[in-house]
Amino acid sequence: MISLDVVVLLYLIASVCFIQSLKGLSHPTTSILGNTFGMAGMGIAIATTAALIWSQAGETAASGLGWVLLGLLIGGSIGALMAKRVEMTKMPELVAFMHSMIGLAAVAIAIAIVAEPTAFGIVDGQGAIPVGNRVELFLGSAIGAITFSGSVIAFGKLSGRYKFRLFQGAPILFPGQHYLNLLLALVMIGLGAWFAVTQAWAPFALLTALAFILGVLIIIPIGGADMPVVVSMLNSYSGWAAAGIGFSLGNPMLIVAGSLVGSSGAILSYIMCKAMNRSFFNVILGGFGNTASSADSGAGAQQRNVKSGSPDDAAFLLGNAESVIIVPGYGLAVARAQHALKELTEKLAEQGVDVKYAIHPVAGRMPGHMNVLLAEAEVSYEQVFEMDEINGEFSQADVVLVLGANDVVNPAAKNDPASPIAGMPILEAYKARAVIVNKRSMASGYAGLDNELFYMDKTMMVFGDAKKVIEDMLKAA
Ligand code: TAP
Repeated sequence: MISLDVVVLLYLIASVCFIQSLKGLSHPTTSILGNTFGMAGMGIAIATTAALIWSQAGETAASGLGWVLLGLLIGGSIGALMAKRVEMTKMPELVAFMHSMIGLAAVAIAIAIVAEPTAFGIVDGQGAIPVGNRVELFLGSAIGAITFSGSVIAFGKLSGRYKFRLFQGAPILFPGQHYLNLLLALVMIGLGAWFAVTQAWAPFALLTALAFILGVLIIIPIGGADMPVVVSMLNSYSGWAAAGIGFSLGNPMLIVAGSLVGSSGAILSYIMCKAMNRSFFNVILGGFGNTASSADSGAGAQQRNVKSGSPDDAAFLLGNAESVIIVPGYGLAVARAQHALKELTEKLAEQGVDVKYAIHPVAGRMPGHMNVLLAEAEVSYEQVFEMDEINGEFSQADVVLVLGANDVVNPAAKNDPASPIAGMPILEAYKARAVIVNKRSMASGYAGLDNELFYMDKTMMVFGDAKKVIEDMLKAA
């Protein structure tokens, strides 16, 4: 038997753990502690809820609890196995998959409550669901359904493994798309009002079905490369869906955890948009990187002359420098060149070169992508600097080595007000005495833009796959 006071106290402890977890996860050095807090909080929340079910319904709940434990065992094992196997570059997909499960769980709980409100104790004197709870159920189910189907599409787009048109990275656009979404949303609100008044199955079922469709429609116009922002937004939705269901169930733990997920997801989406200098609506309405901006890359870029050199030339420049700043980008992750890079920097350090890494907040394709990549290769945190910390140092650096990065060092963001990335904060690599850029070709980056940095007199392009090029530099260093 567990008293309600103890339950409230344990839920409070779990909530504090979750807040500490978010705090810890905000920096690489404290992230392991943050994860530990998160696991502890979730362990306390689950154990307390199980004890509460047991003590409220007595022995009769034993079989119900058995099902809960079986679900935990199956779900927990699958989750642990997936998390163990996942590669760092596939992390956004895993997160999208998990959000889809949270959305589906919210829908399932809402359906169960509508079917058996008495079993959940959500009834008034006449045996009906109170109107306030009907509104919560409608919101929880609608947001949960949008989160589920939207996350499934985001998962497919991120994985790029499926031939199905809906799962292709390219945006799917058609005339009147946004009006159709608006219409669906308005119809759903109407159905929600109908359900709130009548508690009838028909509007509830219909609005849930429409929400599944709306989830698909909202995500298909967004390009694959914008998916990290979308995943973070869906993360936020899944939190609000859980919080909505928490209100229906009268479960403060679900309300607190859902609100933390909801608000942190929203803040992360905002930070990413700000680092790309794009409005949230610009991302959500889709199409970036597929517009006229690509016109000034590609063919035009091929005709301009650049200075190119070999890995040996690059190694010579690096070995003779006193200070080197390395800018890692998406290409480094694609080439999985982080371990070779660590070896190269160790060798340079032995030769007395001061080596630092500069990280742009949206370098790569997910938040913290470069930090995780470098941490995987056991690069010391002391050598890794965020954009604001290191931007002042580029003008004193002898050499900047840009590896598979493009947009995050594009001076057009600062110098060309007409550029689609104008105003996006960049790593000021162009200020260094010499710049070495490694990429495979003159192709543009994610934003589809040409990059003036590549044509500067002080820049030497070293073409080739990042891993091969770094390994060759290592041999020559
Ligand atoms: P990008 O601008 O995408 O440039 C990456 C470059 O890497 C490409 O130009 C490509 O050129 C090169 N590359 C690809 N594979 C390579 C390989 N195997 N070896 C060597 N080079 C290779 O990347 P970035 O500078 O990291 O910028 C990130 C972009 O993603 C930004 O525009 C950002 O707004 C966007 N974005 C980021 C996020 C987050 S949260 N990180 C979220 C949404 C969008 P080649 O093809 O010529 O090799």
